[in-house]
Amino acid sequence: MIVEPVIKGVVAKTAHPIGCEKSVVDQINYIKSQPAIQNAPKRVLILGASSGFGLSSRIALTFAGNADTIGVSFERCPSEGKTGSAGWYNNAAFKKHAEENGRIAVNIQGDAFSDDIRDQVVEAIETYFEGEVDLVVYSLASGVRPKPDGEGMWRSCIKPINASYKANTICLENNEWQSHTLQPASNDEIESTVKIMGGQDWESWIDTLINSESIAEGFNTVAFSYIGPESTHPIYLDGTLGRAKIDLHQTSHSLNLKLANFSGNAYTTVCKALVTKASVFIPGLTPYLMALYKVMKEEGSHETCMEQMYRLYANKLYTENQKVPVDGERLIRIDDWEMQSKIQAQVNEILSKMDQNNFADLADYQGVKDEFLKINGFAHPEIDYSKDVDIDI
Ligand code: NAI
Repeated sequence: MIVEPVIKGVVAKTAHPIGCEKSVVDQINYIKSQPAIQNAPKRVLILGASSGFGLSSRIALTFAGNADTIGVSFERCPSEGKTGSAGWYNNAAFKKHAEENGRIAVNIQGDAFSDDIRDQVVEAIETYFEGEVDLVVYSLASGVRPKPDGEGMWRSCIKPINASYKANTICLENNEWQSHTLQPASNDEIESTVKIMGGQDWESWIDTLINSESIAEGFNTVAFSYIGPESTHPIYLDGTLGRAKIDLHQTSHSLNLKLANFSGNAYTTVCKALVTKASVFIPGLTPYLMALYKVMKEEGSHETCMEQMYRLYANKLYTENQKVPVDGERLIRIDDWEMQSKIQAQVNEILSKMDQNNFADLADYQGVKDEFLKINGFAHPEIDYSKDVDIDI
C-alpha cells in the first residue's frame, strides 16, 4: 500500500512502517556514537515504551547500556487497508535491531492499567530476567484509565484551574493558527486527570512488583514530569496536568521510602518540552514549543527525546560516583537548559510578537511539524514515499 500522512487536527491517522524504522534507527545510531552508560541497569521494564521518552529510554539503555528490556505499550495494529500506529511499528523495529545486537526485547501490548498486563509483565520478568528487574521507567501518557472497580473510565482533561485561558494552537492538519477559550476544570475533571497522570498507577505497579518479589537490590524507578516557565503555567503547572504532576512528585517520595528495603530509589525527572504524540495534544503549548525550538536550536542547546534520555541515564542516574544530582524537591532536572533565563527571555520576546500571520516566520514551526511527521515515519528525505510498502508488520 502507498502510505501518505493523514493528520486530523493534531493526531496522525497513518504511520509509515519504513519511516518509523528509520526514526528508530536514527536514534540507535546517535546512541551508538555516545560513550557507554557506566553502571547501567541490565534488566529494565519500560511502561510506555513505544514512543517519546519511553522509546528513547529503551534505546539509550539497550544500545549504550547493554540492557535487556520488557516494553509495555498500547498501540494500534495494522488492519485491512489501515496502517498500524507509529508505536506499533516502532516496537517491531526496536525489537528487530535490539535482537540483532544480542539483546532481549520483549514487547507486551495492551492496557498498562489492567491486571492482565501486570500478570503478563510479572511472568515475563520470571521468564526473561530470572525473576528480578533493576529499573522501571514509568512513561505512560494516556487520556483514559479504567476505574479499578470496573465501573467506567476516568477521562483526563487538559484545562486551567480557577480562571479561563485563551489557548492558541496550530492545527497540524492545515497549518492554521486557532484560538480557543478553555473554561476552568471542575473538581471531577481535576480528580480524573490526577488519577490518570498522577502517581497512583506508578505506585501500584511498584507495589505489584514488590508483592511478586521482582525488585532487585539497588533497584531504581523513574517517572517524567514537566514544570515549564511562567508562560506555560496557566495551561500546565497551574492547570489539571500540573496537579497530576505534583501528585507524581509526591509519589516519588513515598515510593522512595518503600524502596529503601531494597537499597532502591524513586525519582521524578523533569524533562524539556518536546514534540511527542502526547505533547502536541496540549492546547496552547505549540506556540511555546515553536519559540523554544527556534531559540534552543540557534543557541546550539536543543535536545531531542533521545539526547534528553541519554543525558538522564549517563549523566544523572547512573554515574560513576553513583550520586544522583537532584534539586531541593528531590527532582532530577533535565529541563535545566530550557529554563535558563537567557533562553526564556528570547522565547518570551518571540511569544510577545507571535500571531496567526507570522508564527511560521518568527518561530520554528517547520521544525515542529517535521518532528511530528518523523514521529509517524514521514518527512525522511531518503525514503521514497511513492513506493508500495507492506503495512502488515
Ligand atoms: P508519548 O505519547 O510519546 O508516549 C506515551 C506512551 O504511553 C506510548 O508508548 C503509549 O503506547 C503508552 N501508553 C499510553 N496509554 C497506555 C496504556 N493504557 N497502556 C499501555 N501503554 C500506554 O508521550 P511522551 O511525551 O513521551 O510522555 C511520556 C511522559 O513524559 C508523560 O508522563 C509526559 O507527561 C512526560 N513529559 C513529556 C514531555 C513532552 O514535552 N513530551 C515533557 C515532560 C514530561
